[in-house]
Amino acid sequence: MKKTVIDFLLLENKQLNKDNFLLILQSPLPVSGIFPGQFINIEIKESTEIFLRRPFSILDVDYEKQTISLLVKILGRGSKKLTEARSGQKINGIFPLGKSFTLPEKTDNVILIGGGSGVAPMLFLAKIAGLEPTNVTILIGARSASDHVDISAYKSFGQFYFTTEDGSLGEKGYVTNHPVFAENLNHYTKIYTCGPDLMMKAIGRKAIEENIFCEVSLENMMACGFGVCLCCVEDTKAGHKCVCTDGPVFNVNDLKW
Ligand code: FES
Repeated sequence: MKKTVIDFLLLENKQLNKDNFLLILQSPLPVSGIFPGQFINIEIKESTEIFLRRPFSILDVDYEKQTISLLVKILGRGSKKLTEARSGQKINGIFPLGKSFTLPEKTDNVILIGGGSGVAPMLFLAKIAGLEPTNVTILIGARSASDHVDISAYKSFGQFYFTTEDGSLGEKGYVTNHPVFAENLNHYTKIYTCGPDLMMKAIGRKAIEENIFCEVSLENMMACGFGVCLCCVEDTKAGHKCVCTDGPVFNVNDLKW
C-alpha cells in the first residue's frame, strides 16, 4: 500500500490500564494494505514543544470499517498528549510505514512473544495469520498484572500464556523462562517477537542456536519514519539499515546478534 498522509477521525480513546490506551481511528480511505509489524507516524497537535511525529505500532485493523486501532503507551510528552485526545478529534497520520512480519504458512506452528507495548503487533498477527488456534501460542510478558492489556477480543486466535516479573499473573519471571518457550521451542516452526531489546535478543539468540525461523520487530528510536533523519539506524550483517524503512521487522539471522 502506498504511504498516505491523512486526517483520521478519533472514534474512541479508552484507558486500558495505568499507562496504556486504546485509540480507534477512522480512515476516510481503505486500509486494506496494512499488515502486522507496520506502524503509523502520528502528528501530535496542539503542542508547541513537540515537533516530531511519533511512531505507534498497529494493534488491529478492521478492513471493512476502515478503522485502525493503536495501543498507545505513555512513554513521554508526545504519547501522553495523544492519550489526552478526545473522540471526534482529527488526528493526522502517515501510514503504513515499515515492513511487516512474514505471514506464516498454513502448516506452521508458531509462537508469538510480546513484551510491553510489543504485544500490539503480536495480537494483530495472531488475528490475521489464519492458522488453527491450536497452532498459535501467544506468550505475553509484563512487569505486573496491572500492566497487562485485556486480550479477550483475541482469545479465539490462539493459546495464551502470561508472565509477570512480580508473579501477579501467570508464571513469575520473564517470557524466556516460561515452559512454552524454555522447554518446548522445537515444537515451533516460526517465532515472532516484539518488545524490549533485551527480551528480543534473548529470544533471537535462542532461535539462532536452535535454527528456528525468527522475526523480531525492532523498537529503535524513530523520528521521520521514512529514511531521512537516520536516527533509527541498526548495524546489520548487510551494513547499516534504517529500522523505519528496512524494518522494523528483521529476520534474526540478518542482525548482528
Ligand atoms: S526514523 Fe528517520 S530515518 Fe528512520
